[in-house]
Amino acid sequence: MNPLSLADHGPVIPVIVLQRVADAVPLAEALLAGGVKVLEVTLRTPVALACMEAIARSVPDAILGAGTVRSATDAQAARDAGCAFAVSPGYTAALGAACKQLQLPLLPGVATASELMTAQADGYDFLKFFPASAAGGIPLLKALAGPFPDVAFCPTGGLTPDNAGQYLALPNVRVCGGSWLSPQDAMASGDWARITRLARETASLRS
Ligand code: 3PG
Repeated sequence: MNPLSLADHGPVIPVIVLQRVADAVPLAEALLAGGVKVLEVTLRTPVALACMEAIARSVPDAILGAGTVRSATDAQAARDAGCAFAVSPGYTAALGAACKQLQLPLLPGVATASELMTAQADGYDFLKFFPASAAGGIPLLKALAGPFPDVAFCPTGGLTPDNAGQYLALPNVRVCGGSWLSPQDAMASGDWARITRLARETASLRS
């Protein structure tokens, strides 16, 4: 899979932090019901891998990825759990090489021109821009478009329904990521209808 194809399914990739395995499938189904099928489940909780396995098994229409992939070990675990792609908050040559060996498409995180050049030298030219708002937001993405017209971004970190449209309007932004589609309180209370509504609302973000 070409990582750029992740942008073909909608303007927002939800960044998901699951606390309970029991929430994984209902959450994925709620997001898919709202038209969001690319899902990034982060490796930030002890249940994350079990959640990925549950989604991979029970929600075959989801395009499931692992987020917060920081090492070759994480990449292997994500692949074994059924993930079709990986997202990392930063980039190391070791992680890039491990994902290539696993044939696991990687969206590596960068926040500076030097990090971008390191990832691009290893063949990665579709990059997560993280933490987007803290690292410089829209002005930094506009500045990077000058020297790096051949690089595309998925900004995440600090995006909201109110500012995501402005990011998506940039020519070098293909898709964006955010945690607002899977609020912890909605998952805790099983308010899957709210999550479907939030997912559905993302469709209008890309003009
Ligand atoms: C992350 O990796 O934490 C994502 O960038 C999500 O950030 P957000 O919670 O600000 O959407």
